[in-house]
Amino acid sequence: MVDTHDYTFKVLLVGDSGVGKSCILTRFTSGSFEENTTSTIGVDFKVKYLEAEGKRCKLTVWDTAGQERFRTLTSSYYRGAQGIIFVYDVTRRETFEALEGAWMREWDMYSTVEGAIQMVVANKTDLDSARQVATQEGHDFARRHGCLFVETSAKGNVAVGQAFEELLAKIL
Ligand code: GTP
Ligand code: MG
Repeated sequence: MVDTHDYTFKVLLVGDSGVGKSCILTRFTSGSFEENTTSTIGVDFKVKYLEAEGKRCKLTVWDTAGQERFRTLTSSYYRGAQGIIFVYDVTRRETFEALEGAWMREWDMYSTVEGAIQMVVANKTDLDSARQVATQEGHDFARRHGCLFVETSAKGNVAVGQAFEELLAKIL
């Protein structure tokens, strides 16, 4: 592992419980997937070193609890984040609606970094027959809110790395 780096970035994952935030993070940092996870309690974070545009970056990704009762210290969680990923589950429409209703509002309230980069991630695309939110709808929603948009499957290892790379490229 490299311990020298040119830049340090803080990125957050938010969204309703069960959308796959922790699985996305595990896929990104360890390359693995767990079928049976437990809900995140409070806040967890993982560090990944990677190179982008010739710069050595240390990326700290914060993974928060989607469940209200496990959430604490909200404002400190958002402080200093240069990027945020709003995650929904394509098979549960209410998780898509919660982005606008709750998660984006909270971010607006507590974010501290001017010009921070926002991304919407539509996860669980492997469950195509159960899909409740079309790609185009997710795409339009993201654009309306000035967010990047990527569809992923943490399970199928689809576009997870790409999502973080796109976000990082914009932050840089
Ligand atoms: P909280 O910590 O409670 O906020 O939930 P979370 O968003 O971290 O969800 P988590 O990563 O724990 O995943 C919840 C469930 O969804 C687990 O059973 C995962 O195996 C499953 N899951 C996550 N990503 C995918 C995916 O891409 N496809 C499928 N089919 N299942 C997934
Ligand atoms: Mg979690």
